Amino acid sequence: MTDPRHSTDPALEFDRPVEQEPGAVDAEAPPAAATGELTPAEKAATREEHVRLAEGALVRADELVAGYLPGVNILRGCDFYLQDGELVGIIGPNGAGKSTLLKTLFGLIPVRSGSVTLRGEDITSAPAHRLVSLGVGYVPQNNNVFPSLTIEENMQMGVYLRPKTFKERFDYVVELFPLLGERRKGKAGSLSGGERQMVAMGRALMMDPSVLLLDEPSAGLSPAYQDEVFIRCRRINATGVSIIMVEQNARRCLQICDRGYVLDQGRNAYTDTGDSLMHDPKVIELYLGTLAKAH
Ligand SMILES: Nc1ncnc2c1ncn2[C@@H]1O[C@H](COP(=O)(O)OP(=O)(O)OP(=O)(O)O)[C@@H](O)[C@H]1O
Ligand SMILES: [Mg+2]
Repeated sequence: MTDPRHSTDPALEFDRPVEQEPGAVDAEAPPAAATGELTPAEKAATREEHVRLAEGALVRADELVAGYLPGVNILRGCDFYLQDGELVGIIGPNGAGKSTLLKTLFGLIPVRSGSVTLRGEDITSAPAHRLVSLGVGYVPQNNNVFPSLTIEENMQMGVYLRPKTFKERFDYVVELFPLLGERRKGKAGSLSGGERQMVAMGRALMMDPSVLLLDEPSAGLSPAYQDEVFIRCRRINATGVSIIMVEQNARRCLQICDRGYVLDQGRNAYTDTGDSLMHDPKVIELYLGTLAKAH
């Protein structure tokens, strides 16, 4: 593994100064919270702004309502979009519905109302196998490898729809994750959490997706591994794969993403560039302070 601190790509530098301490609110900041005015990130999360900005999006969700149990909605009117080439981060408190949003986009949870489109085509509640064939890859938060299969077999599962492409895609994946080539005959179950995460991402990449949905790729990893995951995500994004990434590690996520969403109680509460969200007084006060302390 390369040490991310030795990266020469300025886009991958994590140590950009963050002027404010976690939880600190800039005394000079506009008194939006006090006056009840919307901050730019709150305004961007309104329905009107979403409709204006989501024009021509690669992936688009409008007013999504979805849940698991009858009568209990977890997503409660969520708007979301991903433009071609973007890396978009989704942060928010535990239970906000982040994983539920990804699962809903990937057709794993029935949509009660609202819509999802891919390149303008309606894919609301489309089955996962259809989404895979349309170029959508999904890496779930947990249980994302076949532990009794070897790494190579896990990769083969990734191209079951196009077995002839195995060699070409495996070469691409090994370039991103050299360890998967070195350990290709080893059982995935014998790998560490971080290594399994690589297998899961590698398997999703085997299908040459144009969109990758990642649920907490850095969860449970040591800080060095976490940085490595974020660097890989940027690199994958640079190869032309658009990415939607859910993350608990909110600051790191906002540092590397083009845009971010703060999800709260099943709705998009704030959205803006990662940098702007990191400096939004309300986002800091309500989300980043506590999230940053927890990590
Ligand atoms: N399979 C399920 N059946 C019923 N309720 C569920 C199920 N999965 C999640 N929920 C509920 O949906 C809500 C949102 O869960 P979700 O997993 O989307 O949150 P999250 O934002 O991803 O949280 P975390 O940061 O903890 O991963 C929670 O209240 C959770 O209890
Ligand atoms: Mg989750």
